[in-house]
Amino acid sequence: MIATQRMEQEKILEGLAYAEQNYCSDDETHLRYDKQLLKENFDLNGKKVLDFGCGMGSMMLWYRANWDCEVHGIDIDKNHIQIANKILEKFTMTGISIELKNILLNPLDDKYDFISMNDVVEHIQYPFLENIFPQLEKALNKNGKIFISYPPWQGPFASHVDHAVGFSWCQVLPDKLLLKLIERNNQTLVGEIEHDLVDVYLGLNKITHRKLVKLINNTTNLKVSLRKNHCMLNKIKPFKNMNFSWFPFNVLITKEFLVLEHK
Ligand SMILES: C[S@@+](CC[C@H](N)C(=O)[O-])C[C@H]1O[C@@H](n2cnc3c(N)ncnc32)[C@H](O)[C@@H]1O
Repeated sequence: MIATQRMEQEKILEGLAYAEQNYCSDDETHLRYDKQLLKENFDLNGKKVLDFGCGMGSMMLWYRANWDCEVHGIDIDKNHIQIANKILEKFTMTGISIELKNILLNPLDDKYDFISMNDVVEHIQYPFLENIFPQLEKALNKNGKIFISYPPWQGPFASHVDHAVGFSWCQVLPDKLLLKLIERNNQTLVGEIEHDLVDVYLGLNKITHRKLVKLINNTTNLKVSLRKNHCMLNKIKPFKNMNFSWFPFNVLITKEFLVLEHK
């Protein structure tokens, strides 16, 4: 029992360090292009922000540190929320509230100017996503925007599975072999729901841009006002700002970004 408690405590400390690094570093984390794009495209001063799937809270703190906005973060994982509360305590910021909430059981009752989903959509199964987007549409103010970022399934990171396996484009392997490799490298994580790498893999929906836009068009009246992606070819100077959205270059996309608004 004591050993289990010690392990849980260690996981929480690991989670805290991870969240702190994601908040403090604009360059080193998987959120660097999110942060760059957010800074270039949005002014969140005076805005009411919902961080949907806020996880361990790093982006909530980052939004609040960069703009004079009010931020509400919700997540379904109680361990992530526990860490988010701890990191908020550590940096003592005002204007942030955090809630453990599943909007499918307990719908949103407020409206927001900006809803962000950083690295969240790839973790939610399609039938749930189909119910979540109409709720987010309802909760979005008239001129509001929804910002979505995710590593697409066809890209080198395969929705982050490459971390578990150790090489890029591992999604081309047969499902059974991929699962075996992940089981072999399995590690416990801090999440209550995604408690190890196998849970994470089994929870992925293998999302791509085409599938996500189809789902949004089928379930809401929202329109896509911006699509941007980060492709490995953007590292070459003349291609720095180009979108490489078509085959075969789309397999080089490390991260997709989508902005939605009311029609
Ligand atoms: C990869 S983490 C990203 C966390 C955070 N947005 C970030 O960028 O650091 C995905 C998060 O989405 C949360 N999540 C998954 N399904 C959800 C749902 N239906 N409602 C709210 N949060 C959800 C998970 O619990 C997890 O914390």
